[in-house]
Amino acid sequence: MADSARERIVTGANDTDSSAERRATELLRDRAQRNSNSPGMNDLRPRRFADYIGQRDVVNSIQIAVEAAKHRGDTLDHALFHGPPGLGKTTISQIIAREMDTTLVHTSGPALERPADVVGILSNQKYGDVLFIDEIHRLSHAVEEYLYSAMEDFRVDFITGTGAFAKTINLPLQKFTLIGSTTRAGMLSPPLRERFALTYHLDFYSDEEITQVVKRSAMILSVPIDEAGAEVIAKRSRGTPRIANNLLRRVRDFAQVRGDGKIDSGVAAEALRVEGVDELGLDRLDRLYLETLAKNYGGGPAGINALAASANEEVQTLEDVVEPFLLKIGFIMRTPQGRRATPQGMMHVGAPIESSDAGQRSLL
Ligand SMILES: Nc1ncnc2c1ncn2[C@@H]1O[C@H](COP(=O)(O)OP(=O)(O)OP(=O)(O)O)[C@@H](O)[C@H]1O
Ligand SMILES: [Mg+2]
Repeated sequence: MADSARERIVTGANDTDSSAERRATELLRDRAQRNSNSPGMNDLRPRRFADYIGQRDVVNSIQIAVEAAKHRGDTLDHALFHGPPGLGKTTISQIIAREMDTTLVHTSGPALERPADVVGILSNQKYGDVLFIDEIHRLSHAVEEYLYSAMEDFRVDFITGTGAFAKTINLPLQKFTLIGSTTRAGMLSPPLRERFALTYHLDFYSDEEITQVVKRSAMILSVPIDEAGAEVIAKRSRGTPRIANNLLRRVRDFAQVRGDGKIDSGVAAEALRVEGVDELGLDRLDRLYLETLAKNYGGGPAGINALAASANEEVQTLEDVVEPFLLKIGFIMRTPQGRRATPQGMMHVGAPIESSDAGQRSLL
């Protein structure tokens, strides 16, 4: 299997997540990664740049960097991918390792608890290997400091022994590529962020791009689907390939049980209605957020802490999972005073818009 990724996965022994972080992570998984462990899900991941749909500017730029590095016989510069969950950060990192013909070592910020963890991994890296750190914003400060010299000078300095027996050891490393992935670039410390020569933001996909994702996945899963059926699923996928793949599977199941297995627009719309996904792809939590803001706070402005308390959710969950897409479709705004619902957002949950207020907002 020449095309299979050489990949090692490093996970932490005891993850010290705060409950808020854990809740947000669980929610992301529950909402976006449902069924991702079932057989076949990983087969949907594009394996080469040519299969990676959308994000054209990002792909063009990284493809040039990869080809140039290969041509020089050099390693790729360190790269950082940031953007909302499910947009393809892990996927493109795996493609990079495959296209560079190197091994990808997969770990995550919370898994690298102690400096010894990261020194161990770094000292085992071979020339050109890719170290992929997911959720890189969650690295501890102590671990992060080791990465500075590792990234810049390909060495780590660490101290063994204590007191009079303390000794600094300089450990040279093989030249490697660090790829970081994060949903929260703002939480990265400037010294770490500046050490990435390549920084890319992944944005939500257009409906046309997601339609392509749905058709590609349907083909791999051998599910018959027509153009209109793919479009219905795409429109409700919040511009996110992972959600598109999950919705496709739900619709496929529905079509199998209630229909003849074929997906057209009618079957797709009915299946997604049963799933509680509305025409814009908003689910229960999105609607709860909007309703709280629109009805409990009269459209805002409301502070994120107050909103989280009213909706009985964690702040981080609202910021990472719910807000990016609502901002993108213009249903909410972030203002210095707090979050506000736009007239479109108010209308979507059937909240009344005061005319003077609506006029004022339409000017914003
Ligand atoms: N450009 C793309 N073309 C086709 N499918 C894609 C693309 N990007 C992502 N996918 C699909 O979406 C799924 C989720 O992508 P991925 O795991 O890379 O997201 P992520 O950005 O790493 O998310 P997270 O922030 O949660 O880690 C993949 O399994 C893949 O099947
Ligand atoms: Mg990922």
